[in-house]
Amino acid sequence: MNLTTIILAAGKGTRMRSQLPKVLHHIAEKPLLKHVHDTAIQLENNTIHIVIGHGAELVKKTFANLQVNWVEQTQQLGTGHAVQQVGNQISDESIALVLYGDVPLLKIKTLQLLLSKINEKTLALLTVNLQNPTGYGRIVRDNFGNVLRIVEEKDATETEKQITEGNTGILAVQGKALKKWLSQLSNNNAQGEYYLTDIIALAVAEGFEIATSSPQNEDEVLGVNDKLQLAHLERVYQLQQAQNLMSKGVTLRDPNRFDLRGSLDVGQDVEIDVNVIFEGKNQIGNNVKIGANCSIKNATIGDDVIILANCVIENAEVGANSRIGPFARLRPETVLATDTHIGNFVEIKKSVIGQGSKVNHLSYIGDSLVGKKVNIGAGTITCNYDGVNKFQTIIEDGAFIGSDTQLVAPVTVGKNATIGAGSTITKDTPDDQLTLSRSKQLSVPTWQRPVKKEKL
Ligand code: UD1
Ligand code: CA
Repeated sequence: MNLTTIILAAGKGTRMRSQLPKVLHHIAEKPLLKHVHDTAIQLENNTIHIVIGHGAELVKKTFANLQVNWVEQTQQLGTGHAVQQVGNQISDESIALVLYGDVPLLKIKTLQLLLSKINEKTLALLTVNLQNPTGYGRIVRDNFGNVLRIVEEKDATETEKQITEGNTGILAVQGKALKKWLSQLSNNNAQGEYYLTDIIALAVAEGFEIATSSPQNEDEVLGVNDKLQLAHLERVYQLQQAQNLMSKGVTLRDPNRFDLRGSLDVGQDVEIDVNVIFEGKNQIGNNVKIGANCSIKNATIGDDVIILANCVIENAEVGANSRIGPFARLRPETVLATDTHIGNFVEIKKSVIGQGSKVNHLSYIGDSLVGKKVNIGAGTITCNYDGVNKFQTIIEDGAFIGSDTQLVAPVTVGKNATIGAGSTITKDTPDDQLTLSRSKQLSVPTWQRPVKKEKL
């Protein structure tokens, strides 16, 4: 079966109260339209057309690398008019499938079920029984349960408004028939629009059967019209992802306080405390514990790692059996080998920290190569930047850096070297020796504290 998918995305989304075209608003850091597209491309032999209007240029630019055919609808004269714009690009033999760019959580299974209903004289329509159908087109059936037509809320009589079966807007039918009915639409209705929904009655008049199916869950077909609905669907989506991870064995302390804005591969026995946010592409090994309020982006985390609360990790690799935090920040291009300890208020940027090394308190390590079993004392800072250029610090295996040391790069601390606390190191230091740069301690017996001067 050849498919022609038409995604309607021209609407303005006035109720979003935003400069951004509606379909570019995000769920889990991914534009609404991308959610729909990602589902549509899972259908085989599918040519995708996206109808755009408001913010068309921005939408096209955002998705410049998508393999789709963009169709512009310069004036939004209704859903029927939108599909008309695709016109002859819908081939006669193909099955045309209409999707909405602002209905992001539709499942592929639901579409497959809908498409399985198609045959030569069938129009497949996705409908949904709603607690509160206000705003939806209603499915009008005869006494035998056959669908006769769809009536829009604004055109419905009081009796029709009682119908709780709503139109999701999603339908599929042979291209040839669709094109014919599109040319017969009129805008003689309450909104003065060309309604796509009017093709149902035209299909019935031609002896087509209207086969309906429904999504497993109402949330799948909910559209986004305002920020409230956007937030609702964000939570629905996040809960689905949380459930998926739990089904793989992840322990989530509270699935309602978990956010994944990207992907997460996990091993066994991973425990994640509340308010952890993952972004981008992440990989976590076995037996990993992540404390509350961590923000983790594009990270690779080895087995048996403990990340304590309130850490921020981005584009970093954490070796097995390491302990991070609380309150640690791993910035891009940080690579921690196995058995490392990175403690509170420590910032690491573009550095490699060797096996078994520790940076436990209040330090900044940037553009550095740190060897194995190095101990970096509290308050140590690599001065990697002269205001214009960045320089590297090398700390060789087994070095011990005393607290409150400044390492002015470029500089190398030798193997098993010890740096005395409070030193400012500007030259390379030899292996195995103690190096310090502070002045000798001195006491002044005659010194007296200043006293407050009397006011004149
Ligand atoms: C439409 C259906 C209604 C259904 C509801 C489900 C029609 C006439 N009505 O109503 O039966 O219950 O969806 O949410 O089809 N769009 C365009 N160009 C246009 C008009 C709309 O691209 O000229 C796009 C919008 O961007 C949106 C989608 O089509 O993605 C639906 O449009 P909307 O105005 O929200 O339709 P509803 O009035 O909600
Ligand atoms: Ca709508």
